[in-house]
Amino acid sequence: MLEKRTEFWRDPVRVQSFAEREADHRLVELVSRSELFQGKRVLDLGCGGGRNSRFLVDQGWELWAIDLSPEMVNKTRARIESWSESRRRQRIFVGPMDDLSWVKREVFHLVIALGVYHNALSEIEFLQTIRETSRVLSPGGVLLAASFAPGTILDGRVGEQIAGSRWLYTGYTMGSLCLLSAPEYDAVFAAHGLEPIQKTRTVERQIENSIRRTVNGLYQKKVV
Ligand SMILES: C[S@@+](CC[C@H](N)C(=O)[O-])C[C@H]1O[C@@H](n2cnc3c(N)ncnc32)[C@H](O)[C@@H]1O
Repeated sequence: MLEKRTEFWRDPVRVQSFAEREADHRLVELVSRSELFQGKRVLDLGCGGGRNSRFLVDQGWELWAIDLSPEMVNKTRARIESWSESRRRQRIFVGPMDDLSWVKREVFHLVIALGVYHNALSEIEFLQTIRETSRVLSPGGVLLAASFAPGTILDGRVGEQIAGSRWLYTGYTMGSLCLLSAPEYDAVFAAHGLEPIQKTRTVERQIENSIRRTVNGLYQKKVV
């Protein structure tokens, strides 16, 4: 299963298409709200081809980025042209979203997780990922997350919920996806000390034979 998913994200055509994209519009809007941030350390979780990493570096953020796909990591490194090779290797590397043990707790002022959480292969992996995201965020730190929701159709395929699971749906080209509704996201994040700072929205977009239903959320880690 893991191999199928890794294969999907290593596909050269897919890697190239992600590498050519512009920065995510939700991120562009967010970073203009400087009053939300107490510092400029950011983690790009599942950085893909580096569109958002490049934008953040250009905006003066101190970036770390990880992705499971070595090809995606290489593209992200290549996009940060202003950095030396050694800095790129130290800051941008292959790693799974559910194990951030390479960094201490409460380090980042912003974590972005765009299109990555739904890739969890199990509910255990998903919950561990959210636990890790919360651990590395500083108190008051911000999480920008966008993930597919139940009902998403990709390449004409509608996922079918796996019997006995809460959030796992099978039948997609890349295998199974972990899909939560907006209230489910809010509940899981709240259980990990992350509260919405604006209403979590579900947005639907039709592209060819896909209907992408996406949960867009902006959360802040509670200060205790
Ligand atoms: C839809 S792409 C989004 C890329 C990027 N965030 C963007 O907005 O362009 C999802 C990315 O998540 C990565 N990914 C999938 N599963 C992962 C995991 N378990 N840990 C880390 N990265 C993962 C994939 O390799 C892929 O680059």
